[in-house]
Amino acid sequence: METFTPQLLKGKIAFIAGGSSGINLGIAHGLAAAGARISIISRRIEKVDAAVAELRAAGGEAMGLAVDVRDYPGVEAALRATHEAWGPIDVIVSGAAGNFLAPAIGMSANAFKTVIDIDLLGTFNVLRASYEFLRRPGASVISITAGQAVNPSLFQSHACAAKAGINMLTKCLALEWGPAGVRVNAIAPGPIKDTEGMARLTPTPESEAALKSVIPLGDYGEKRDIADLALFLCTDSAKYITGAILDCDGGSSLSRIGPARAPEAPAAATGSR
Ligand code: NAP
Ligand code: COA
Repeated sequence: METFTPQLLKGKIAFIAGGSSGINLGIAHGLAAAGARISIISRRIEKVDAAVAELRAAGGEAMGLAVDVRDYPGVEAALRATHEAWGPIDVIVSGAAGNFLAPAIGMSANAFKTVIDIDLLGTFNVLRASYEFLRRPGASVISITAGQAVNPSLFQSHACAAKAGINMLTKCLALEWGPAGVRVNAIAPGPIKDTEGMARLTPTPESEAALKSVIPLGDYGEKRDIADLALFLCTDSAKYITGAILDCDGGSSLSRIGPARAPEAPAAATGSR
């Protein structure tokens, strides 16, 4: 990982849900390199342990617990443990998510509910449970949403609905928590290279090339692009920004991504973890 502005977040504490891989781990590295102590949660202890080891090897201070964001008491316990170890939490990143390509008629009610539960209810759980442990005033809360929140996308009804809910939750909590000096924003990454998300959404070279052809800046972004935006949102430079949904997507949101009609739906029940 490249060097970030040193010590911009010295003494700050960041809690990152879904921080054990991909974009969220990239954010963890970015905030750690800027001096923040990092606490992460995700479901699988081996991923959590590997990410914590990676952050420490890069010179950061990190801790982690295996928690499913659908488990409110578990999320609350992880936040409490972070608070007890280090004190008031300055930054919350809620980025846990699940996704797969499936037409609505190719998914069960439980499949739809699973994505809503992880993405939307999980984000509510993380944000709601965090309030008691936040530095107030001063905390910056960031949810990770997606372009699907505002762009209806084929075979993404579950993710579109869940991320749309996250956008509105972001704005509602910005209203409620602004008077306490807590800023609540969301980042909508565009397609980011070397991530599980894009492995699932553009699994073939053809689908990847088709997507790149409609991105104004011509390529997928990097995890570092999202980490830099998250870092900005954690600093005083962003002290008057709340309730914002910030696209970091190479202009993807300006053009329609993907076809309006598909000749063939993906086979159901493939691509789960
Ligand atoms: P990823 O590597 O699969 O990240 C998902 C993270 O969430 C993992 O750490 C995963 O670890 C954790 N997780 C999943 N379900 C969980 C649960 N129920 N409870 C707790 N943790 C859970 O995927 P990514 O592609 O980097 O995506 C990260 C975020 O960016 C997501 O919010 C996604 O919607 C958003 N996003 C991604 C892209 C992209 O280009 N990839 C574009 C737009 C938005 P465990 O398996 O250990 O739980
Ligand atoms: N198409 C249709 N349905 C699918 C599916 C697919 N590709 N993948 C899973 N499902 C269904 C399952 O069949 C199940 O429904 P059922 O009980 O009616 O059979 C339901 O979704 C839940 O699946 P399960 O595997 O039990 O859920 P989980 O909580 O263990 O895992 C997922 C959640 C399905 C989202 C899994 O893909 C995951 O863990 N993803 C995390 C990583 C990720 O998606 N990263 C990218 C983030 S953008």
